[in-house]
Amino acid sequence: MKAIILAGGIGTRLRPLSCTRPKLLFPILNKPLLDWTFERLAETGVDGVTLAVKYMAEVFMQRYGESTHGMKLSYSKEKKPMRTGGAIKYAEEFIGHEEPFLVLNGDIFSTIDYTALLKKHKESNAVATIALYRVEDPSRYGTVKLTENSQVTQFIEKAPLGQAPSNLINAGVYVLDPKIFNYIPAGQPVSIEHEVFPKLAKEGKLFGHEFKEIWIDIGKPADYLRANRILLDAEPKKRFLGKDVNVEEGAQISDPVRVDAGVNVGQNSRIGPYAVIGRDVVLGRNVTLENSVVFPEATISDNASVRGAVIGEGTTIGRGAEISEGCVIGDYVTIRDNVTISRDVTVCPSKEVTENVPEHKRII
Ligand code: GTP
Repeated sequence: MKAIILAGGIGTRLRPLSCTRPKLLFPILNKPLLDWTFERLAETGVDGVTLAVKYMAEVFMQRYGESTHGMKLSYSKEKKPMRTGGAIKYAEEFIGHEEPFLVLNGDIFSTIDYTALLKKHKESNAVATIALYRVEDPSRYGTVKLTENSQVTQFIEKAPLGQAPSNLINAGVYVLDPKIFNYIPAGQPVSIEHEVFPKLAKEGKLFGHEFKEIWIDIGKPADYLRANRILLDAEPKKRFLGKDVNVEEGAQISDPVRVDAGVNVGQNSRIGPYAVIGRDVVLGRNVTLENSVVFPEATISDNASVRGAVIGEGTTIGRGAEISEGCVIGDYVTIRDNVTISRDVTVCPSKEVTENVPEHKRII
């Protein structure tokens, strides 16, 4: 079976961290999201994957080359952003017309059983079968009205609160029949959610498959942190310390935590619960780090505290500095000693912050 992974989005909602890496390469428990996805596709027996790329396309090409996880890789590189449907049409030459194929929104973490989705697809005369996930608030997503035999009779993208036909949302995972290519005009940006699925629903060619495994959209910083939390809870091993991790005297570790290779945890520091620490991070003495993700090679100096935040690669948090809930600090930032950053502040890459930031703001 073949698969397309949609990987070309800019990821504006994950700025500033998406300014310096594509969303699909954000680490989840210290492993890029895309590696998790490749692993699951390979386990399912997928043998060829087309990455539909645009934003930072070269980063993917350099990292993965022509094959990965035993699967052949090809790149459908768009000249302009084609949006979700346009990107699928653009990849037509790589996919061909022989058999149904999988399409994944690359910014989703899921343990969905792809084989069950494919089976459901084959049971109907669907042009598309979409994976559906039940959520409490469907207003951010596409929602469907489903008949008893799983036919989608209505597909509405981002219905206002209270007006969605159900709580079943489009999970961004599809099996598509090659006939789908007849529904997408060539050479122009097309949204499959806005322009194609509603039409298929009207024609009775759209089916749904509800699944109950893990599903997390990492589109926003809070979702990204939540993804790491959920997986820390789901992992059987609650404390994972990589190779050459040095934990100094008096340091306290509260599970669950995941600490990558080469990390130093200084004297009397308190890490966890829910700390994910990337390769070669240095934590000084008496640091507090909880419910946060720290990208590789960052430094958090003596007496600093980081709670509910994401700290970018190579960033330095000065002595006694405080980083509050919801903050996203970009790569190679310097936060000076004793600076307090209040909730939900974002700091762009390579900035230096020398004064307290008392209210929510974006430092660019
Ligand atoms: P935001 O800017 O934060 O909305 O993120 P995004 O640009 O990634 O858009 P969105 O979350 O709607 O994208 C869903 C999936 O489709 C993601 O995996 C994107 O990488 C992918 N995607 C979005 N637009 C394009 C595009 O023009 N081309 C390709 N190839 N993929 C796209």
